[in-house]
Amino acid sequence: MNGDVTRDHYDRLAATYDENWAFSPDFIGWMTGCILQRLQITSDDLAADIGCGTGLYARGLAQHAAAVTCVDASAAMLAQVPAGERLITVTASAEDLAAGRVALPHERYDAMLLKEVLHHVDDRAEVISGLTPLLRPGGRMLVVMLPTRISYPLFADALKLFSQRQPDPAGIAEAMRGAGLRAELTYESFPMIFETERYLQMVRNRYMSLLSSFDDAQLEAGIAEIRRAHPGETIAFSDTLAFVLGTAA
Ligand SMILES: C[S@@+](CC[C@H](N)C(=O)[O-])C[C@H]1O[C@@H](n2cnc3c(N)ncnc32)[C@H](O)[C@@H]1O
Repeated sequence: MNGDVTRDHYDRLAATYDENWAFSPDFIGWMTGCILQRLQITSDDLAADIGCGTGLYARGLAQHAAAVTCVDASAAMLAQVPAGERLITVTASAEDLAAGRVALPHERYDAMLLKEVLHHVDDRAEVISGLTPLLRPGGRMLVVMLPTRISYPLFADALKLFSQRQPDPAGIAEAMRGAGLRAELTYESFPMIFETERYLQMVRNRYMSLLSSFDDAQLEAGIAEIRRAHPGETIAFSDTLAFVLGTAA
């Protein structure tokens, strides 16, 4: 997906983005805990959340940090970040930051989060090496992303396209090492359960950017396929996420 298409997708999704996840404060709480445990944020720390979206996780980080700079390429997503003196918003792409075309309000950061954004970036190694100098000595960069194979209850063509497009977390760890960071890759899973109708509506809303690659007719055919595979009232699956933690010397 190129930059303009990605921005259009998130601009369209912005107003309803949190509804997709708000049903599950348990998931948000679990994920926030996974992030905090790895980033080891303390109350003096400056954090940056790059590709922060609506700030679902920046809000949790801000409860532990001195300030969180929230960066996103979509102004509509950023407009959903709640106002708060410890949340500073910057409209910019990760590429612009990495290349120094846009400066952040602080020169160096103790912690940097990139959650489910790097699959939108073409040259991930260049972005990682461009962001690394923004870390203080001992600073942590955490990339949270899906693995190359997911067990989401999507239709077969969507799962296939996902596997073709999704970058390998091991490659992100390599890119961090290439940028001079010490890198560690771990995986964690969370049990998900949705009412079937609600999940189908999320698919219809194209809650994953991947689903924007399918037109309305293809999506409806895909939804019928999901419904055939899941005739019950609920859909349960395991959501596994990769956590790639890079630490500066
Ligand atoms: C899947 S959402 C994740 C949002 C948030 N990190 C979360 O986990 O809720 C991806 C976000 O990345 C943003 N994005 C996409 N490409 C970007 C880029 N090249 N630079 C910065 N942000 C980007 C989108 O606008 C969107 O808000």
